[in-house]
Amino acid sequence: MAPPPAALLLPALAALLAAPAAARAPPRSIAVVGAGLGGSAVAYFLQQHFGPQVQLDVYEAAAVGGRLATLTVNKQQYESRGASIHALSLHMQDFVKILGLKHRREVAGKSAIFSGEHFVLEETDWYLLNLFRLWWHYGISFLRLQMWVEEVMEKFMRIYKYQAHGYAFSSLEELLRSLGGDAFINMTQRSVAESLLEVGVTQRFVDDVIAAVLRSSYGQSVLVPAFAGAMSLAGAQGSTWAVEGGNKLVCSGLLKLTKAKVIAARVTGVSLHSSEGRALYQVHYEGSEGQGSAFYDMVVVTTPLHPSRSNFTFKNFEPPITDFPGAFQPSVTSVVHGYLNSSYFGFPDPKLFPFASILTTDTPDLFFNAMDNICPVNISAAFRRKQPQEAAVWRVLSQQPLDKQQLKTLFRSYYSVQVTEWQTYPRYDAAKSLPPIVLHENLFYLSSVEWVASSMEMIAVAAKNVALLAYNRWHQDLEKIDQKDLMHKVKTEL
Ligand SMILES: Cc1cc2nc3c(=O)[nH]c(=O)nc-3n(C[C@H](O)[C@H](O)[C@H](O)COP(=O)(O)OP(=O)(O)OC[C@H]3O[C@@H](n4cnc5c(N)ncnc54)[C@H](O)[C@@H]3O)c2cc1C
Ligand SMILES: *[C@@H]1O[C@H](CO)[C@@H](O)[C@H](O)[C@H]1NC(C)=O
Ligand SMILES: *[C@@H]1O[C@H](CO)[C@@H](O)[C@H](O)[C@H]1NC(C)=O
Ligand SMILES: *[C@@H]1O[C@H](CO)[C@@H](O)[C@H](O)[C@H]1NC(C)=O
Ligand SMILES: *[C@@H]1O[C@H](CO)[C@@H](O)[C@H](O)[C@H]1NC(C)=O
Repeated sequence: MAPPPAALLLPALAALLAAPAAARAPPRSIAVVGAGLGGSAVAYFLQQHFGPQVQLDVYEAAAVGGRLATLTVNKQQYESRGASIHALSLHMQDFVKILGLKHRREVAGKSAIFSGEHFVLEETDWYLLNLFRLWWHYGISFLRLQMWVEEVMEKFMRIYKYQAHGYAFSSLEELLRSLGGDAFINMTQRSVAESLLEVGVTQRFVDDVIAAVLRSSYGQSVLVPAFAGAMSLAGAQGSTWAVEGGNKLVCSGLLKLTKAKVIAARVTGVSLHSSEGRALYQVHYEGSEGQGSAFYDMVVVTTPLHPSRSNFTFKNFEPPITDFPGAFQPSVTSVVHGYLNSSYFGFPDPKLFPFASILTTDTPDLFFNAMDNICPVNISAAFRRKQPQEAAVWRVLSQQPLDKQQLKTLFRSYYSVQVTEWQTYPRYDAAKSLPPIVLHENLFYLSSVEWVASSMEMIAVAAKNVALLAYNRWHQDLEKIDQKDLMHKVKTEL
């Protein structure tokens, strides 16, 4: 049945009436707090939407790149933090293309899962043999896991279509619901173990394999929420890549491209003022030249706002904005240049040690979560992995700093150890509800997405969402915010 003419006219009329609002001048200036991937990406996306005339100031207290960084061992650089990117990370792929960067060449290496006494699962050169072993040990669990992860990823990938059509979400709940319905929201509240057991994965598979993957990625147990777990399992299953020269090049590249002004200062707070009936934000900071402040039409915060991480105060906001509950997981990275003690892993002859990546099961006495034989960020065509008996660079992840005794257990001897302690990821077992994205009219909190899952691509997705949200709100284009039934809408739009 054809709709009555009035209904046909209404959208056109509404568009006409909305036109003056759409023609509103862009913000004069925007502040971004933090120059990690989140800050760099949101600066880039904001400029794409609002245009080059907007003044973009990016405040960074430490180094551009944040949790993407390299360190030097023996004149070569290695990724010390965020290292590997899932193949289907479309925003990261785009950044690399736009910036003219390259994928680093893959260097094959086998993994195995260590229980503290022996290897419970070993990868071999033979794809079929690997499958057979999984089948032999765990039956159909492996296939069920794969199907579960694939289903989550397939739904998650809808976000790229929504974003390409300009749709944004004003809360993490709305975003998740549009991708996977209430089931996706539930996946932030129940554990990955519970979800997997429900689809028929066995307890033994959860204990051996799932636990090992989560220990190596989040340094946490199978009690992390199902959504974060699925993202981390997807990373472990599919092929991954990294940026030639270091992942941090994406951050410096995007900031250079947008010509954003990077200000070396720690932001201490934001206070609300108003001018001509509009919100105006005063950003307070501390730099090497003392304290200062500046006014902005819009602010995006890309650093976690929770008690142990931030010293950030919000003034004059009603209702007040306070720190959000929850804690971060401390973790330690030790980059060791040395000779592996293969005996400890049950290989008395070091020449025969076949693994480049060692994951671990949740065993009380085990003092490390995972260790990888890592390759430099620049790999020439002639590069090959060291023979197992040669000195190599290993990255060891642990909960506590390794003491001398523990280092002597893992390594026969070593030339150097570089230790970094982090507040790496949210402690997901402490998650109760998801923090907001919108803190005030034009004040946004990008890092809230970490409570859904924390990875480079999740941050990039959140950066695109915040930029679209900021743009749509600025122009009061409410039809592009929190829309229902988007799958249907994007199919019928051109
Ligand atoms: C050890 C480790 C391993 C990881 N491995 C992976 C991986 O393999 N794959 C993956 O996808 N992800 C991985 N991640 C996660 C990934 O690195 C992060 O999700 C991502 O880099 C976070 O980016 P961000 O911009 O949100 O935060 P950050 O990179 O933390 O950036 C925030 C920035 O804000 C600055 N800042 C903080 N407070 C202030 C202030 N008051 N004023 C001004 N500046 C401030 C900080 O100095 C920092 O530079 C890993 C993380 C760690 C730590
Ligand atoms: C979400 O979880 C609640 C209980 O925790 C349950 O009642 C509801 O059916 C779940 N919804 C979906 C869509 O799985
Ligand atoms: C490493 O790779 C990056 C990106 O391709 C390049 O800019 C840089 O010059 C390289 N460095 C070395 C030491 O080869
Ligand atoms: C916050 O400020 C207090 C007191 O000024 C200081 O001791 C603490 O180290 C600061 N925390 C962070 C994360 O900067
Ligand atoms: C290596 O591992 C073996 C077996 O666990 C252990 O006895 C030895 O002390 C370790 N360290 C060195 C330096 O060999």
